[in-house]
Order: sequence, then structure tokens, then C-alpha cells
Amino acid sequence: MTLPKIVAITGASNGMGKAALELFAAQGWIVYGGARHVENIPTGTNVHALKLDVTDSTSNQHFIQTILTEQNRIDVLINNAGYGENGPIEDVSLANARKQFETNFFGAAELTQLVLPTMRAQKSGRIVNISSIGGDAYSPLGAYYHASKAALQQWSDTLDIEVQPFGIRSIIVQPGGTQSAWGATAMENVRKNLQPNSPYVDFVDLMGKSLDSDAQGMSATVEDLAKVFYAAATDSKPKRRYFNSLSDRLIVYVARAHPKLFRKSVLKTLKRWGKDVK
Ligand SMILES: NC(=O)c1ccc[n+]([C@@H]2O[C@H](COP(=O)([O-])OP(=O)(O)OC[C@H]3O[C@@H](n4cnc5c(N)ncnc54)[C@H](OP(=O)(O)O)[C@@H]3O)[C@@H](O)[C@H]2O)c1
Repeated sequence: MTLPKIVAITGASNGMGKAALELFAAQGWIVYGGARHVENIPTGTNVHALKLDVTDSTSNQHFIQTILTEQNRIDVLINNAGYGENGPIEDVSLANARKQFETNFFGAAELTQLVLPTMRAQKSGRIVNISSIGGDAYSPLGAYYHASKAALQQWSDTLDIEVQPFGIRSIIVQPGGTQSAWGATAMENVRKNLQPNSPYVDFVDLMGKSLDSDAQGMSATVEDLAKVFYAAATDSKPKRRYFNSLSDRLIVYVARAHPKLFRKSVLKTLKRWGKDVK
């Protein structure tokens, strides 16, 4: 009889993390979901909800220690918790920019350090890091978010080479625009981050309207992304990068291989929205 596998998922109170928790549980895994709003994490047979703030070392240690004490092993860690500390670069305080990195990057780094000794001893394990197409592509008002996801990608690729000899892999998933609370949180942060008399107010209004209409047209669902997380966690020969759609893959390809063309397309979109850019 094969024992059920153990997965830890951060950011499991909403969106993709919650959908992934439900999918892994339905597939017979023992699932540990962590988030600050623990009351929003579904529970059930083999599903455990733990309070977790990935920016807090004590909380990270408690999360992983609980799993290891109860299960004595861990097969997959999904570093999914994340948000957009969006706003104009000139206006976003460095304290908030650091908070962005503490959540999207250092949280994942610390949790990974906490599981690696056990995964090495087991001679198996997988770290699935949820980045974004915005880890390669970029758009105005998203600088610190893009920077944090780009950092996560470089870090994951480096880790993958370091831990492969121990039977462990580190994989990146790059979602594109997906229906969840992410966009509303990012837009709320843009407004919070605007300084009094900011010269970027008109730009923010323009982007806000356009982002809202873009969000309405988003077709990817959190359930679609949960399936991608599952493939990244279980494929016997995992890829370095996982995408939900061909268009997400294409955006990343153009941003990486044709940076001038990518920049032109960003400027063209802004012009279409009515922004006077060269
Ligand atoms: N939706 C998109 O369009 C999109 C596109 C590309 C990439 N992504 C990435 O996909 C991942 C999931 O996003 P989503 O769309 O599912 O967003 P979401 O619906 O806003 O969910 C984000 C989750 O992260 C958790 N979280 C945030 N800060 C946390 C912290 N300090 N400690 C622990 N948990 C924290 C939230 O839980 P609590 O508030 O309860 O802590 C929530 O469960 C993120 O990394 C995001 O950057 C999203």
C-alpha cells in the first residue's frame, strides 16, 4: 500500500491556493494549507488549516514544524502566497517595497530552507514556486511585483541545480491574468501608495479603468491554475516552467527573446488606452 503524499500550500485561504488545496485533497493527498485568514481555509478529512504569515519567521517555523511533527515527511511545498504592492515607483515607499519582497520572495525562501533538510533525508521532494508571467514581462505600476517574481525565478533556477543531486526539484509556475482577488488587491494598493499631490494620479485613473475592463475579460480560472500546480507537483519529469495557456507562454517568450518588441507592445497598449507615450 502506498502512503498518501504530503503537500504544504501557502496562501490557501483564497484564489489559486484554495483551489489547489481542494484539488490535492480530492486526489487523496494529505494537505496543509496556510494563510493569515485561517478561517477561510477549507478543512476536512486529510485537510489541515494552519495560521501562517509568510513574512514572519516564527510563523513559518511553526507551519513547517507542525507538518513534520505530525507526518514526519513532506513531499511538496507550494510557495503560492503573494500579492501586488503596485504603484508608481516614485510613490511606493521602500517599506512597502520591502514588504512585497518579504511576502513574494523571502517567505518562499525561508519555508524552502525549513523543508530542505527533511527532503534531503528522504532523497525526494519538490518545491513549486508560483511566479507570474510578470516575472519576465512587465507593465507600469507593477515594478516591485515584477522585481519580486523575477527574483523568485532566478532563485528557483539556482536552487534546482543545487538540490537535484538530492532527488529534489524546484519548479516555476507562471500564471497569467486569472480571476481571483489578486487584481482588486493590487489596484487598492496602487491607490494607497499614491503620495499626496502625486503627478501619477491621471495615469493611475487610466490604468485603473483599463485594468478593470481587462479583468472582466479574463478567462483563466483558479481551478485551471490548480491543475497546472498539480502537474508541476506530480510530473515524473517536471519542466522548469509551467504555463496555463499558449498565450501566457508567448508573452514570456516575446519579453525574453524580443525585449524591444515587448516594450513596443506595452507602449502601444498604453496609447490605445489614451496615454501620450513615445
Ligand atoms: N490572479 C492573477 O492574475 C495572478 C497572475 C499571476 C500570478 N499570480 C500569483 O499567484 C499567486 C496566487 O494568487 P491569487 O490570484 O490566488 O491571489 P489571491 O486570490 O489574492 O490569493 C492570495 C493568497 O495569498 C495569501 N497571502 C497573502 N499574503 C500572505 C502572507 N503574508 N502570508 C500568508 N499568506 C498570504 C492570501 O491569504 P491571507 O490574506 O489569508 O493571508 C491568499 O490566500 C500569487 O503568488 C500571485 O502573485 C496571480
